Amino acid sequence: MAQLHTTINGEPITAEVDPALSLAEFLREKMYLTGTKIGCGKGECGACTVILDGKAVTSCIIPVLRAEGACVETIEGLERGGRLHPLQEEFVNKGAVQCGFCTPGMIMSSKALLDANPAPSKAEIREALGGNVCRCTGYVNIEQAVEAAADRMRRGEG
Ligand code: FES
Ligand code: FES
Repeated sequence: MAQLHTTINGEPITAEVDPALSLAEFLREKMYLTGTKIGCGKGECGACTVILDGKAVTSCIIPVLRAEGACVETIEGLERGGRLHPLQEEFVNKGAVQCGFCTPGMIMSSKALLDANPAPSKAEIREALGGNVCRCTGYVNIEQAVEAAADRMRRGEG
């Protein structure tokens, strides 16, 4: 076992961890943050995407100790004071919540994008979501949701 000091959704955490765990396993099994999903477990589908020090990462292939001294953001951290994040609201408004398994990862990839680039082009949105695989519907509504959220965030929301 090893000691981990990290910050999750703004809260400093110290925990005894098995270094063999992935960050996704740690978040789900030890922190009970089950909004982060594990699909392929191989870094290929994006379901497990969280933000690690500002970058979207596939947490299923990140060893938990990579979070030492880092800031981790998960889907649970987006809501503020009982209000959903504009990305969450626009995913609902635009019909972009196509399945519960992929949506948290798609929203976290989108958040990392908008944090770094408040006015992304369609191509940049598509590129940011390139690692989030949807096999059910497609990306049109998702792109529209990200654009709508970006508009709102530029006007000071979220
Ligand atoms: S579960 Fe991590 S990329 Fe698929
Ligand atoms: S959104 Fe999950 S498979 Fe399409």
